[in-house]
Parts: sequence; structure tokens; C-alpha cells
Amino acid sequence: MNNFFNDPRFAGIEPFEKKIWLSSPTMHGDEQKWTDEAIQTNWVSTVGANINEVEKMIAEYIGVKYAVALSCGTSALHLATKLAGERLYGQAKPTQGTLQGHKVFCSDCTFDASINPVAYEDGEAVFIDTEYETWNMCPEALAKAFEMYPDVRLVVVAHLYGTPGKMNEIKAICDQHNALIVEDAAESLGAKYKLNGQWVETGAIGNYNCISFNGNKIITGSAGGMFLTDSIEDANKVRKWSTQSRENAPWYQHEEIGYNYRMSNIIAGVIRGQMPYLEEHIAQKRAIWERYEKGLRDLPVKMNPWDRDNSIPNFWLSCMIIDEDAMAPMVRGEQDYLYKSESGKSTPHEILDAIAAFNAEGRPIWKPMHMQPIYRMNPFVTVEGNGRGHTNAYINGSGADVGADIFQRGLCLPSDNKMMEAQQERIIDIIHSCFL
Ligand SMILES: Cc1ncc(COP(=O)(O)O)c(C=O)c1O
Repeated sequence: MNNFFNDPRFAGIEPFEKKIWLSSPTMHGDEQKWTDEAIQTNWVSTVGANINEVEKMIAEYIGVKYAVALSCGTSALHLATKLAGERLYGQAKPTQGTLQGHKVFCSDCTFDASINPVAYEDGEAVFIDTEYETWNMCPEALAKAFEMYPDVRLVVVAHLYGTPGKMNEIKAICDQHNALIVEDAAESLGAKYKLNGQWVETGAIGNYNCISFNGNKIITGSAGGMFLTDSIEDANKVRKWSTQSRENAPWYQHEEIGYNYRMSNIIAGVIRGQMPYLEEHIAQKRAIWERYEKGLRDLPVKMNPWDRDNSIPNFWLSCMIIDEDAMAPMVRGEQDYLYKSESGKSTPHEILDAIAAFNAEGRPIWKPMHMQPIYRMNPFVTVEGNGRGHTNAYINGSGADVGADIFQRGLCLPSDNKMMEAQQERIIDIIHSCFL
């Protein structure tokens, strides 16, 4: 790492006394009230009033009939994926996943928790490339994937950084191919989308929908997640599976594999206290995005985009991407990186190192799943078709790989909603200095 304090480009910039986080919990006081009440009334378990109340609050807010409170977004995604697998291919043996022998189309540029449940259920993820307009699953690449693998019946779609993907197009393609959607709205609670002319919440668009209350999310319980649905049968099944799949017998009787995935009433108390502040958090996050957009306008960079006609993000994380011709050299290994500073140019890692040196936290863009060692042998589909093996020593040019490009040129900026305007101005100054 450079010594930024000896670098004249950064002269006069002071480090932050207290760390500026990427996105940390913002408590308001009501969280304490509901967790205290749970403890005082001895509902310190996976049942209680806080759970009932948050399930009601979230279902009403998102506009679905049922919300099932779970231990985390990952458990919600697992049970959503398992439900889809069971509906499509039938009940599996206890030792097998419901997706065994089947491919599933998956968002490529996302956290691996979105798509790991496909592997938990023994399926094979086929990664679908990303588009530049929202940084989410590319509908054109999805259509190509259905040409290549017409038997696929399940698609897992995430909304990256709180920005809704192109769900009108994605849903139309899925309907055409009779495919179900698992919607991962872990990062996008409160983001809105105009679905076929009607505004809806993310988390109400797929056949099986999930949100997360992880400590870095816009509303947190420290942990937690929810499964969202309009189907009473699906809601009941998730309740049963998440509490060890107990049958109606006086003893513990089991006909299906179970999980210990239910939310704790203490965690639900934190979420219950947080929920009234969702709109406030979104407004703060939006103001942060807008200040970056304004402050960085004179640099060769762009902010993470969204479809302004059909969506309103929750602005969970502000991100930027460096213009191609303003990228200084940067290479990444599997666990390390190297870059050069060049006048008028910069790199994501130079900016992240500079921000870190001054005591603030940024983060690289999610490394696409098709580039991850664990999924390197899985199929990957771009707008051009097969995204694997498209290079050739004897032919110039190598096919598009939008996710890899956004990963190479992009980064997540400090987006904590407690960050003061003056602190954000200092981060904007640090980024400017990187381009000097
Ligand atoms: C896109 C995405 N999907 C799934 C998850 C998993 O949620 P959790 O951490 O609550 O298990 C997260 C966040 O952590 C996420 O960002």
C-alpha cells in the first residue's frame, strides 16, 4: 500500500478520527424497548410478539400476504430455492437436494449467498452476465441462456446494491419459458419497481421472495431474514421446514428434513424498532448518492446507474465506476493486487487504499460468481452465448464480460447513513487526489 501521508497529492487531508463505515447499523432507541420487553416477559425464544409484529409489518410494507421471519437472508434463500425445486421436480430423498441433475439460471454479479442455495440443493448454477444500465442480470443474456438450455425452469435474480434489475424483461422471458423466479431482495428493502405499469416493492416480484436484516443492511436486526409470498401453502411449508419439520404428533415425528432457521424474538425486537425508520434511512442513503454524483461529476467516473423510468432504488450502497480510458494499470491475483499511479487516472484499489488510509471503509464490487474458484467450472452465458472458452490465440478480441468489467473498474464507496456532509466531502477530496 502507498504511504498516502507522504504523497503530495493528499497534502492537507486529515484522517478521520472515528472510522467511516461502508454501511453500519443505525439504532434509534425503539430497538431497546422491544428487546427489553421480550426479555422482561420471558419471550426469549423463536416465538413471541416481536416476531408476529415484524412479520405483519413487513408483509404490509412489501404488499405480500405472508412474511415468514427467519434467521438470515441466506436461510430464506435456501428455503425459497428448495420450495421451487420441490414444486418443479418433486420431493427429494433426505440425502439429496431437490435440484439434483438440474440447471438453474443465476445472477452472476452478486454475493454468493444469493446462489449458494442452488448448490445446497444439488443443482448446477448457470451464471447469466450483467448489463450496464442497472448492474443486474442482463435480460438479453438470459434469453440466450434459454436458447442454450431450454429445459431450465428456475431463475435466481438479485437486485444489486438496492437497485432493481430489469424485472419487466426478466419476468416476460421467464413467463415465456414457464420458469419460476427466486427474487433476492436482500439489499433492496424499500426499493420500488414499475412492473408492467404498476409500482410494486422489490420482494414482491418473484414466485419466491427473500430479504435480509444483516448488520450492514438498510434495516437490521443484527441478523435476520424473511421469506415473502402470497401463498399460504408456501408460507406454512417454510414455517415447518424452518422449525425442524415437526409433524402433528405428541412426540418429535418427522416426515421431511428440517432446519433450525427461525428468527429469534430478540432479533425481531430490533427489527420492530428499526422498521419505522426505513424511509428516513432511504432518504439519507439517497442524499449520499446524490452528493457523490455531484462531487465526482468533474472526474472520469460514473455512479452506479438505475432505470429512472421504472425504478426507485433504496440507494443502499453508493458505487462508482472509472471510465475505461481513465483506468491506470491494475492486476488482481486470487488474493492480492497491484496497481500503478498515473496522472489523470486511478484504479479501484488505489481509491480503496486511499480511503482506508484515511480511516474510511469502501469495498470492491462483488466479484462475479463465474470468476469465483468454487464456480469456475459452471456454465456462464453472455449476450453472445457461451461465455466460457470464447477467446482464441489466433483471433483478436474476446467476447463481452460485463460483470468482469464492472468488477475491474468499479468500487463501493463509504455509504453509512450517519456520515456527515463534511466527512463525505473529505472522501470526495480523497478520490479527487487519486486522479491528480
Ligand atoms: C445479495 C445478497 N443476498 C443474500 C444475502 C444474505 O443475507 P444474510 O447475510 O442475511 O444471510 C446478502 C447479504 O448478506 C446479500 O447482499
